[in-house]
Amino acid sequence: MTTDCIIIDGKARAEALRERVTAEVTRLKAEHGLQPGLAVVLVGDDAASQVYVTSKGEQSRAAGMHSVTHRLPATTTQAELIAVVDSLNRDPAIHGILVQLPLPPHLDSADVLAHLDPDKDVDGLTVLSAGRLASGLDALTACTPVGCLMLLREALGDLSGLHAVVLGRSVLVGRPVANLLLADNCTVTIAHSRSRDLPAICRGADILVAAVGRPEIVKGDWIKPGAAVIDVGINRVPFRDPVLAAQGKTKLVGDVAFKEARKVAGWLTPVPGGVGPMTVACLLQNTLTAARRIAGVT
Ligand code: GUN
Repeated sequence: MTTDCIIIDGKARAEALRERVTAEVTRLKAEHGLQPGLAVVLVGDDAASQVYVTSKGEQSRAAGMHSVTHRLPATTTQAELIAVVDSLNRDPAIHGILVQLPLPPHLDSADVLAHLDPDKDVDGLTVLSAGRLASGLDALTACTPVGCLMLLREALGDLSGLHAVVLGRSVLVGRPVANLLLADNCTVTIAHSRSRDLPAICRGADILVAAVGRPEIVKGDWIKPGAAVIDVGINRVPFRDPVLAAQGKTKLVGDVAFKEARKVAGWLTPVPGGVGPMTVACLLQNTLTAARRIAGVT
């Protein structure tokens, strides 16, 4: 069956959100003398993380925020990293702290996050933030999941009663996105690498969020006709063309086989240009929220 699939423009949605955040930063500065501040901490030289962190710094500055980036060597010890986090916790100019993941393998990310002030947890990754979300309380929530929900609400309106299948159970995406969908009254299934018959589970979904980090695992025949498909995957793969592959050329693909999926889905996010841009825009929004709360202004 062929449907007219709407390709969701995450870039445009993110730009609109960044404009709203920028306007609000301008107002907070003018009316309250408050400049929201974001600190990003990167350890090591993972190529993808370097790109993400640079973009977070540039976009927070462009929105008028105070922005600092700590680039620490891969040899940084646990104690050194925690000392940086502690100093940012104490810094009154900083309202949001993000420790870019993954950390090098010798570092314990759970222990680092345990030192982060939950009021500055603009990534929604502390146990307190995640627990508040899971308890149905207001919480600073991980940025990619918030971006997914914004795109879904804009596409579908009220999500009540829809069956949402979340493929993946990560702390960064799968678990929080499932909780957000539940808060929007969806019936939520979390599927993962050990689930039996993934295609059948996915075919039951009105909303399918793919966040497993497996290139193009979701095929066209995994998708219910007319479903909304949100592709969170960002996978770098060699070109299929053997000549380009031999030259070492790579491209980005999602967790969804895009060409097949667009013949079946009702809505679909592209990779790149779908969820990715929303993540940074939502980080700016969380930083704004944290700054308002810490300063006690509305
Ligand atoms: N690595 C990839 N995405 C993210 C994110 O949203 N937050 C953090 N801290 N690390 C990431």
